[in-house]
Amino acid sequence: MRVVLISGASSGIGRATALLLSQQGYRVYGTSRQPNQALPFPLLQLDVTDDESVQACVETVLNQAGRIDVLINNAGIALGGAVEEATADDAKRLFETNLFGVIRLTNAVLPYLRQQQRGHILNLSSLAGIIGVPYLGLYAASKHALEGYSESLRYELRGFNIAVSLIEPGDIRTGITNQPPSQTITDYADFRQRTEHIHIHNVQHGPPPEAVAGVILKALGDRHPRLRYTITQGSEGWVPWMKRLLPDRWIEWLVRQTYQLDE
Ligand SMILES: NC(=O)c1ccc[n+]([C@@H]2O[C@H](COP(=O)([O-])OP(=O)(O)OC[C@H]3O[C@@H](n4cnc5c(N)ncnc54)[C@H](OP(=O)(O)O)[C@@H]3O)[C@@H](O)[C@H]2O)c1
Repeated sequence: MRVVLISGASSGIGRATALLLSQQGYRVYGTSRQPNQALPFPLLQLDVTDDESVQACVETVLNQAGRIDVLINNAGIALGGAVEEATADDAKRLFETNLFGVIRLTNAVLPYLRQQQRGHILNLSSLAGIIGVPYLGLYAASKHALEGYSESLRYELRGFNIAVSLIEPGDIRTGITNQPPSQTITDYADFRQRTEHIHIHNVQHGPPPEAVAGVILKALGDRHPRLRYTITQGSEGWVPWMKRLLPDRWIEWLVRQTYQLDE
């Protein structure tokens, strides 16, 4: 029975994935900063911004299950507002979870995966890891960083028989909220509010988190796991192709239309 550790399984994509993998016979350990929910899989305490919490969580899984085969770095937060409205501390808080949290947990698990000479690491990126998104700029920066990190890690771990995959959802119907920046600048107010409404609308009308869980299940069954798995709905499906095939100014035009920046 393959042992899976998934960060941030108290809600949204993480919970849906943990539930599906449990049903499919994986031995799943989920996590939460406040693990007080009753779920059909063990929910361990984990704050990915805290070294000691990460070490304790990984040791608990190894003590109980004796191994870890799959690590799903799902824990993540979002920060809205114009890039200029976020302070350096806002940006650091975001990256502490979305990038350094992934690095911390991955580094804690890797010695065991290397020893086993087997494993699969899946990192929750986003379409915002492929293209920049207005008024979600630092979130996009954190996911772009995660993309570069994961691509590089994949080369380095291949010789140890450890696969690295990026899961790239578009807007998914979860409770994720764009935290506001610490300061607001009046010049950005109209566009910030307009894009925030569009972001909220898109998330509320996106596919359910079970759609991402299904793709993760499939990725875990692939004999040769791919670098990227994208989950999109409607016109979002063009984003990865546009990025590869279209000139930047076409992509910029389409994004400006999507977020009504020219009106
Ligand atoms: N929803 C979307 O539209 C969408 C699209 C693309 C990518 N994603 C990515 O998918 C992942 C999951 O998002 P979601 O939509 O399912 O959001 P969500 O429902 O808000 O879930 C986020 C999870 O992350 C955990 N978490 C947050 N900060 C943490 C920390 N410091 N340490 C440990 N766990 C922490 C939360 O657990 P606790 O609060 O219980 O600790 C929660 O379980 C994120 O990486 C997100 O960027 C989401």
